[in-house]
Amino acid sequence: MARGIRVGVVVAAAVGVLALTVGFAAGQAKGDAKAGEAEYKAKCLGCHGASGAGDGPAGKVLKPPPRDWTKGDGLDLSDQQLFDSIKKGGEAVGRAKTMIAFPSLPDAMVWNLVAYVKSLKKT
Ligand code: HEC
Repeated sequence: MARGIRVGVVVAAAVGVLALTVGFAAGQAKGDAKAGEAEYKAKCLGCHGASGAGDGPAGKVLKPPPRDWTKGDGLDLSDQQLFDSIKKGGEAVGRAKTMIAFPSLPDAMVWNLVAYVKSLKKT
């Protein structure tokens, strides 16, 4: 019984790794929200706030301020546009340049951030 579970876990992990590899190779990976969380806390929280409500200490004084993602405000963009707004800055997608660009972040991490940002919507 225990052996069967162990084998199952190993198989599931192998399938997961394979799916990730194939996903990245095809450029289809849409990111892993969990993997984006630490990066968000390090680079984005100051403006966007811990919950994504746009109430970070620096965000509050910006004009325009960040939008309230917990209500879905601002998340009406496509995944590609969300990606571009992070990598190239808000202006690249018609948003304000108070959303600065993060050109040095690897694409895979930007996708992780897109997934994390989308997960902050609560309603
Ligand atoms: C200097 C403050 C600041 C920082 C730091 C910042 N943002 Fe933003 N961001 C903004 C503002 C302000 C907007 C909204 C611009 C607008 O409404 O036109 C925005 C918009 C966005 C958008 C587009 C969707 C929307 O709500 O308009 C995404 C996606 C985004 N930010 C992700 C991030 C991520 C991920 C990070 C960290 C890597 C980050 N931001 C760091 C200020 C910031």
